[in-house]
Amino acid sequence: MYSEKVMDHFRNPRNVGEIENADGIGEVGNPKCGDIMKVYIKVNDDVIEDIKFKTFGCASAIASSSMATEMVKGKKVRDAWELTNRAVAEALDGLPPVKMHCSLLAEGAIHSAINDYRNRNGLEPWEEDKVHKAVMEEHAH
Ligand code: FES
Repeated sequence: MYSEKVMDHFRNPRNVGEIENADGIGEVGNPKCGDIMKVYIKVNDDVIEDIKFKTFGCASAIASSSMATEMVKGKKVRDAWELTNRAVAEALDGLPPVKMHCSLLAEGAIHSAINDYRNRNGLEPWEEDKVHKAVMEEHAH
């Protein structure tokens, strides 16, 4: 049911932990199952220099958190923002359809950490795009 990549990232998740003096911290709960993810980012010169996470969730949530942090590390903040849960799921060679909502946790927590970073620096928070919002809301029911 799960790809080898999912199993690998679930068994050996990358970037687990916290960052002291993080430049941005984000936390989201998945409305569908109640699982939670917290993300810490360190930003230098508009680049995500370091990222760590803690996910209290299922195997798919942990694997997608791990993969998502690998994918945004070293990226410009704007490019990190553009990372979608679909791209993360693809990088994991797919998630079972009923588990796609789990990958939203990583995308949402990264967005919330980026906006926390923007707030702290007096920048306008970026808006979630409408499609994404609709999906999150759909899963809330
Ligand atoms: Fe909650 Fe997967 S079941 S994130």
